[in-house]
Amino acid sequence: MAYSNIIYEKMDGRALITINRPDKLNALNRKTLEEMNDAVNDASLDSSIGALIITGSGQKAFIAGADIGEISQLSPQGGKDFALYGQTLFNTIENLGKPVIAAVNGFALGGGCELAMACTLRVASQNAKFGQPEVNLGVIPGYGGTQRLLRLAGKGKGLELILTGDMIDAQEAYRIGLVNKVTSQEELIPQCEALAKKIMAKGPVAIRYALEAANRGIEMPIEEGLFLEATLFGLTCATEDMLEGTKAFLEKRQPRFKGK
Ligand code: COA
Repeated sequence: MAYSNIIYEKMDGRALITINRPDKLNALNRKTLEEMNDAVNDASLDSSIGALIITGSGQKAFIAGADIGEISQLSPQGGKDFALYGQTLFNTIENLGKPVIAAVNGFALGGGCELAMACTLRVASQNAKFGQPEVNLGVIPGYGGTQRLLRLAGKGKGLELILTGDMIDAQEAYRIGLVNKVTSQEELIPQCEALAKKIMAKGPVAIRYALEAANRGIEMPIEEGLFLEATLFGLTCATEDMLEGTKAFLEKRQPRFKGK
C-alpha cells in the first residue's frame, strides 16, 4: 500500500509511524486510519520488529482528533461504523504483543488522546496538550475515550475531562497518570527510542505474555486474572529465553534472548 497520510519507517528492529497531515494538525480521516491499519498490521506480522513508536508530524500536533469534516457528514449507522472502525484499529494497537509507544509531540485531542491511550506507554513533549473535546461538537468520544481514560486516570478525573472538554497540559497529564514521562520536544523521539530499546533487550516472549496478562487480566475478576498470570508464567517456563535468562543471571553475564 502506498501511503500519503502517514510515513512508515523501520530501523534497528523498531518501526515508526508518523501521522503526516500537519496542515490539518494530523486529524484522523478515514484514509489516514486505513493507512495506519496497514502499517500496524505490517509491524505486527514482521518478526524483526520489536517495538512500534507512533508520533505526529510537525511541532504543533500529535493528532488533533478525528476529522471533523468527516464527522459532520455521518448518519447514525455511519457513526457507529466510524466508531467501530477506529476502535478495532486501536484494539489491535493495544494488543499488538509488542510495546507501542506514543510520542506525543503536541495536541492529542479526541481520537489523538484515544490513540495515545491505546498505546502501551506514552511520552509527551512539554508543549503537549490532552483532551476529549467531543462534547463541544455534540458527540461523545468514539474511539475508546469513555473507557480507557477512566481506566488510566480514574473515574472522577476521566469524567471531568470528558464532560467539560477541557484540555490539560503535559505536566497535568503526567500528574494524573495519563503519560509516563514528559520531555523536551528535541528529546521526545530519542527518549521513546531508548525506552523501546530497553524493553526490546528483555525476553520477547516474556514481554508478549506480560502485555497479555495485563491487557486481558485487567478486564477480569482478580481470581481469573491471577489464574491467567499463573498460566502464562508457566508457559514462560517452557521457553529457551527462561533457561537463558536465569542461566545468565547465575553466570553473572548479560542474557542473549532469542524470543523462543
Ligand atoms: N478535524 C479536521 N480539521 C482539523 C481538526 C480536526 N479534528 N483539528 C484541526 N483541524 C484543522 C483546522 O480546521 C485548520 O484547517 P484550515 O487551516 O484548513 O482551516 C487546521 O487544522 C489548523 O487548525 P486551527 O484550528 O487553525 O489551529 P489552532 O492552533 O487555532 O487551534 C486546536 C488548534 C487544536 C485548538 C483546534 O484546531 C481544534 O480545536 N481542533 C479540533 C479539536 C477537536 O475537537 N478534536 C476532536 C474531534 S472529535
